[in-house]
Amino acid sequence: MKGILLAGGLGERLFPITRATSKQLLPVYDKPMIFYPLCALMQAGAREVLIIVRPTEEDRFRSLLSDGSQWGMDISYAIQPNPNGIAEAPLIGADFLGDAQFALALGDNIFCGGDFDARLATAATTSTGATIFLKRVEEPGRYGVVEFAADERPRRIVEKPENPPSDYAVTGLYIYDGDAVSMARGLKPSARGELEITDLNNAYLARERLSVVRLSDDDAWLDMGTPEGLLEASQFVASEQQRRGERIGVPEHIGLRNGWVDASGIERLAASYGDNDYGRYLRRLIGDV
Ligand code: DAU
Repeated sequence: MKGILLAGGLGERLFPITRATSKQLLPVYDKPMIFYPLCALMQAGAREVLIIVRPTEEDRFRSLLSDGSQWGMDISYAIQPNPNGIAEAPLIGADFLGDAQFALALGDNIFCGGDFDARLATAATTSTGATIFLKRVEEPGRYGVVEFAADERPRRIVEKPENPPSDYAVTGLYIYDGDAVSMARGLKPSARGELEITDLNNAYLARERLSVVRLSDDDAWLDMGTPEGLLEASQFVASEQQRRGERIGVPEHIGLRNGWVDASGIERLAASYGDNDYGRYLRRLIGDV
């Protein structure tokens, strides 16, 4: 399983905050936004991850995430010259992907809790074709929305419909097989000029190769692309961490759990934070408090 993390785009809904920086580098409570979707990819088992960024931003992401070896990963970077749509990701990543299965995560989505970890792990090991994750939401018209047939099977996905056919939004985490690159090559830009991920998913659906996983009402999913979403996400992370007594979105933790980095690696990382709160938390992870 490889991973692509899409962290380009202009972040226009967050202007002026994102005029001089990428949305995915903004703080979400105590971590940069990108840590959360990166952790989702790590939970899906993606150790080799390509991060797609807008031009001029590569150095900033690199100074934050480096080459991933600190977490036992292999992180590389690619530029998306223009925000031509989410479904451009497999095309930009074609050489990186080869014919591997991969998970694609949107850089402004956060997933957490309930049974999400288990659901993701199962999907990652059993997915054939493509798998998408659905969440019941109050304003489905802001997202891709699934229309279901009478037998509950998905009939089609509609992008930001005025009259949503259901309450089930398509979240920003997708698993694809090696055919995604050639299928994305067959897509045409939509009326808004983008290669739509919804069109790629509909292409899998038409071939009866799309699986849907419904997240439960206890699983949290937030899109952090608006000022309200950003604030809500910070508040959510703060209260969830307080409730659990454990942090979410910590790559060191997932790397340790996956066996990609050992205690001495975590100790080195903790040392790089000095005696700050994050450093102390990392030491706690390895029982050295
Ligand atoms: O959040 C889930 C929704 O994400 C899905 O329900 C929709 O089907 C899907 O189209 C998408 O809708 P958004 O309007 O939220 O997508 P947005 O344009 O905000 O892009 C999401 C992320 O992808 C964001 O971090 C920026 C990045 N991006 C986006 C585009 C269009 C890129 O890196 N390059 C792009 O060309």
